[in-house]
Amino acid sequence: MGAVAKKPYIMPPLSEYAEVAARLRVDNVSLRYQSPKGETFTALDRVSFEVPDRQFAVIVGPSGCGKSSLLYLTAGLNEPTEGDIYVGGQKVEGPGADRGMVFQGYTLFPWLTVRQNIEFGLKRRGLPQDEIRTIVEFYLGEVGLAKFAEHYPKQLSGGMMQRVAIARALANDPQILLMDEPFGALDSQTRLQMQQLLLQVWGNSKKTVVFVTHDIDEAILLADRIYVMGARPGRIKEILEVPIERPRSLDVVMEPEFIRMKRHILGLLHDDLEEVH
Ligand SMILES: Nc1ncnc2c1ncn2[C@@H]1O[C@H](COP(=O)(O)OP(=O)(O)OP(=O)(O)O)[C@@H](O)[C@H]1O
Ligand SMILES: [Mg+2]
Repeated sequence: MGAVAKKPYIMPPLSEYAEVAARLRVDNVSLRYQSPKGETFTALDRVSFEVPDRQFAVIVGPSGCGKSSLLYLTAGLNEPTEGDIYVGGQKVEGPGADRGMVFQGYTLFPWLTVRQNIEFGLKRRGLPQDEIRTIVEFYLGEVGLAKFAEHYPKQLSGGMMQRVAIARALANDPQILLMDEPFGALDSQTRLQMQQLLLQVWGNSKKTVVFVTHDIDEAILLADRIYVMGARPGRIKEILEVPIERPRSLDVVMEPEFIRMKRHILGLLHDDLEEVH
């Protein structure tokens, strides 16, 4: 196998994707489901928003407001009933390697090692072996798993598995990284570590991230912008800029601006609950 990797690595090849103003554009998207009885349920109602290139966008909202549905539509795993989604100016018409996904459940291939999981997409794309090795070593280093390259997923902790999932997604040099509660199954300590790690990896990668969470602290810590959704029907209630400087440490939760934003978002979510009951 390759030499033991130490930071800093050579950066992987530059992204083939040119900078665009809005990396993600969701244009008047509605999603409706038919119940077996023929009733129509509106999961998303005319949702429109943009995520600028290289931003860290976080979507928060009550359970069932359509957060996962929105990510699935963006991933091309489902089609909107109305409206369109554009990634890098291209209309989404199905799944594609330009969108990396990290979801809550552990989605690694259990029969492949950490290295093989990360290189999976690169091999499929037919990249030369030495290029694959450079990219894999880089991302193993980024997520702090250089020593675990030959381990299998079952030999890793939950946090380590999610780090492999992040490395695997980024190794494909996607235009956008879609993350659906990726740390939801982790204990609070590991979760804090993962948030810091993600911010560091994101800072280095300059990727656009769309991250879904229930956790308001997590949202404010991570986001450039927070998209607050409401339920029944699922819609965007408010878009907030997070005016807190980076880098952000965990102490940020004590800052007045953080507390002010948290109170505001809790208020928005609370209104939504009252509308339901
Ligand atoms: N295949 C489906 N058929 C019918 N209804 C569905 C289907 N998938 C999702 N829904 C409904 O659409 C709504 C949005 O679901 P979605 O999973 O996107 O919510 P969410 O915001 O991700 O919730 P959570 O925070 O609990 O993960 C829910 O009310 C759900 O019951
Ligand atoms: Mg969900």
